[in-house]
Amino acid sequence: MNPSDLSAYWLPFTSNRYFKRHPKMLASAKGAYYRTEDGRELFDCISGMWCCPIGHGHPKIAEAIRRQAETLDYSPAFQLGNAATFRLAERIAELAPAGLDRVFFGNSGSEAVDTALKIALAYHRVRGEAGRFRLIGRERAYHGVGFGGISVGGMAANRRAYAGAMLPGVDHLPHTWNPAQMAFSRGQPTWGAHLAEDLERLVALHDASTIAAVIVEPVQGSTGVLVPPLGYLERLREICTRHGILLIFDEVITGFGRLGASFGAQRLGVVPDLITFAKGVTNGTIPLGGVIVRGDIYEAFMSAEAPEYATELFHGYTYSGHPIAAAAGLAALDLYEQEGLFQRARELEPVLEAAVHELRGEPGVADVRNFGLTAGVDLEPFPGQPGLRAFRVFEHGFQNDQLFRVTGDTIAFGPPFISTAAELGRMAETLRAAIRAVRPD
Ligand SMILES: Cc1ncc(COP(=O)(O)O)c(C=O)c1O
Repeated sequence: MNPSDLSAYWLPFTSNRYFKRHPKMLASAKGAYYRTEDGRELFDCISGMWCCPIGHGHPKIAEAIRRQAETLDYSPAFQLGNAATFRLAERIAELAPAGLDRVFFGNSGSEAVDTALKIALAYHRVRGEAGRFRLIGRERAYHGVGFGGISVGGMAANRRAYAGAMLPGVDHLPHTWNPAQMAFSRGQPTWGAHLAEDLERLVALHDASTIAAVIVEPVQGSTGVLVPPLGYLERLREICTRHGILLIFDEVITGFGRLGASFGAQRLGVVPDLITFAKGVTNGTIPLGGVIVRGDIYEAFMSAEAPEYATELFHGYTYSGHPIAAAAGLAALDLYEQEGLFQRARELEPVLEAAVHELRGEPGVADVRNFGLTAGVDLEPFPGQPGLRAFRVFEHGFQNDQLFRVTGDTIAFGPPFISTAAELGRMAETLRAAIRAVRPD
């Protein structure tokens, strides 16, 4: 049933005026498909918003949520605990790289990022290095929409309106995408490891003793799937270690199997000091995010000069460690494991790669790239109308039973891990038809 009046709801990151003239309403979802109000099934090319890799409507997750809601629907987050949350922290720590074994919970990726940045600052202070206040992000990064996240983030449109209110002491590394060197790469580009050296420049400029942390997405997702050059993250790791700077991987998209391993850290063979996560942890069913922290970072807070009854970190949310979110998380982690879904993502990687690279040579296709179960297809913008080409591709896809995700003039793919090869083939062929069909004004 469509509501008669669409005026009350202000949609996020949406062209509201257009939407309210052309509403797209989803009614239900099952497996890899959404169903629209008018009964059409749309293949979910981006797992919701990168968050539903297991597919929609899984009865085991629904049952876990129902049971938890009936047993303990909410438990105060401060000074009290509940079993589901402790169990989930343990399970997440088991999946994380060795040494990262403490988990702090929030409710979203944005909160996870703000939490990680605050832990980094507070960690240095608790060790007597309060002068380390600078945070280094990267151009084109997406770290959510909190003031911390947009400050270290590098997507210009997300920052413009708030430019006067950014965190002080933030600097940015260059992004790693260079079409002349890496267009149409399959997997990690071979060019670009040297771009990590820019961190040495920032260290020389600001002095290492003022820098608390560097935050990067292992694969930059929301900006359109930018894959790290071979050797780049390794180099960042070395420079951070040498200068006592914490390295944070924002794995809100890349965590929980998207790159064919538990975390991007394992797939890419680089271990950060902190990992942020959200999205796939509950298969998108209940909002949940958090930070996985190296054990000795946690211990630095515990061994500070303070009595046992003192709070060690003045940070947390009403819904930190929410029991229903934890129950959903436990059910999702069971399914990932029981159904071998991280491995399944790895097996589908070459299938997705082959399907999207078939689009090379279509009119206006400027780049295609992929890694793990992610891919990005860049379109040349229509002259003077940035974003319109991909916007029309999205519309065309929607009318032809594919739910594409666009950012600027890029189409990003992150299909569910339960997808079949035939579905990925249809997805790419529908994109081909859309690219051929769309026109400027
Ligand atoms: C890497 C990364 N960090 C943070 C976020 C923000 O997550 P949320 O929208 O749950 O706040 C996102 C969302 O896409 C993301 O991709």
